[in-house]
Amino acid sequence: MELIVAHDRAGLEKARSSGRVALVPTMGALHEGHRSLMRVARTLADQVVVSIFVNPLQFGPAEDFSRYPRTFDSDLDICAAEGVDVVFAPSADDMYRPDRQVSLSAGRMGAMVEGAVRPGHFDGVLTVVMKLFNLVGPQVAVFGQKDAQQLALIRRMVADLDLPVEVVGAPTVREPDGLALSSRNRYLTPDDRQRALALSRALHAGAARLSPAAVRAAAEGELAASGLVADYVVLVDPATFAEIPDDFRGEAVLAVAAKVGTTRLIDNVLIAF
Ligand code: PAF
Repeated sequence: MELIVAHDRAGLEKARSSGRVALVPTMGALHEGHRSLMRVARTLADQVVVSIFVNPLQFGPAEDFSRYPRTFDSDLDICAAEGVDVVFAPSADDMYRPDRQVSLSAGRMGAMVEGAVRPGHFDGVLTVVMKLFNLVGPQVAVFGQKDAQQLALIRRMVADLDLPVEVVGAPTVREPDGLALSSRNRYLTPDDRQRALALSRALHAGAARLSPAAVRAAAEGELAASGLVADYVVLVDPATFAEIPDDFRGEAVLAVAAKVGTTRLIDNVLIAF
């Protein structure tokens, strides 16, 4: 089957099948991590729809919206190679009416951790994901564990707003040396790329410890030793993103964010206590 590219709602409407649909929302600049989401989606549905839309609502005024990598032709090649059925790539004008009034709030959870550093970011993410759910009408949607707080908030949105969509999280894909794949890795100079390895090293150091306090200390120590200034190092409940207490039992997320040169990177790992 040939890949269908829909640039607007009408095109999407025509391309949609009546069978089970899996959606993989992306902002393009696709890499091996996105390919793994597409492969998961393929196992879950008859039709796989990938959306490619750099969502202006989720970027702050001083963030990288205008320079965010846009690689549409190679994105289409990747989608075709992965057997994706439909790419939905709307324009910003098609997605957002100029007199738009209503949007979603990610609430208190959206203002924590990553949301504390990027105010309004998760409101923008939830608003566009809700619109994509409404436009594409998937039964299932696949998101990367790499954006752990985004995944948690999308699960919350589905539960709180009774959306008929199953949300599936897929594991982070890493380079052989540990660097988590990210569209923003393209910004890194060779020197930055070496320094960026401190994030995965910090997670590795933390995951080797037994108590929450020791995990935090080891991760913070590793980042400090690398000379990177962290935006945060947190050990949180994967569903609520609240810091876990020392007697916590279950699975937690150790999440880190730091600027490497001009590029802000995030990473996380799941740790069982
Ligand atoms: O994870 C991303 O690429 C984006 O935040 C998403 C989910 C496609 C919404 O714009």
